[in-house]
Amino acid sequence: MYLLIPAAGSGRRMGSDRNKLLLSLLEKPILTWTLLAAQKASSISDITIICQPHDREEIEIIVDDLKLTKAIKIIRGGSSRQESVYNGLQALPDRAEKVLIHDGARCLITPELFDRCVDSIREIQGLIAAVPVKDTIKVVDEHGIIHNTPERSKLWAAQTPQGFDVKLLKECHEKALDNGWKVTDDAALFERCGLPVKIVPGEETNLKVTTPQDLAIAEFILRGR
Ligand code: CTP
Ligand code: MG
Repeated sequence: MYLLIPAAGSGRRMGSDRNKLLLSLLEKPILTWTLLAAQKASSISDITIICQPHDREEIEIIVDDLKLTKAIKIIRGGSSRQESVYNGLQALPDRAEKVLIHDGARCLITPELFDRCVDSIREIQGLIAAVPVKDTIKVVDEHGIIHNTPERSKLWAAQTPQGFDVKLLKECHEKALDNGWKVTDDAALFERCGLPVKIVPGEETNLKVTTPQDLAIAEFILRGR
């Protein structure tokens, strides 16, 4: 299975002066943890890392040090996650029928979750890993007044991996370009195009390292493993 790893962000919410994926977590770059999990997932054969040109050299060194046994490609990202994934899809070989996309920033993923997603995507057209929401979620208007409270039992927090039929996802991205749709994940494009996306049980610990607090929580979880 082909895996795309978007890693071309800047980590603005981390408040660091460089891509957060290159910051250290228990003495290894965040991206290294993500790659180690992908390496251990037996169902993944090809990994494409999507990054900014100014991070390329550092990422090449990370990849070389890991001596990964999978086919690795490093390609250029765009100015949004959506654009980065678009570039990743263009870089896939024609024979790629299905693809998994996993954010470099979700570095606590287990190999088992990768393998579960690969098993499922072989049978269907679209999936995402997700977990039930624990908080009660409020929809709030521009004045800070609550508009409504969606029923919690219907709410899921989206994670990655997200898996798709390559041809269909490419068509969704083209439609998004034509219509100016801006989304934060690929499932949202599938949904807008009326295509089904199935939930696969994610992992509570599969958090996205976004803020310095997340980095501290990630360290705590890794120490417990
Ligand atoms: N990403 C990407 N290309 C972009 C922006 C983001 O490949 N132009 C990647 C990030 O590297 C990350 C994933 O998409 O692995 C999820 O994005 P996010 O957590 O928002 O990371 P950043 O965009 O780097 O962080 P911030 O939004 O705080 O700047
Ligand atoms: Mg971002």
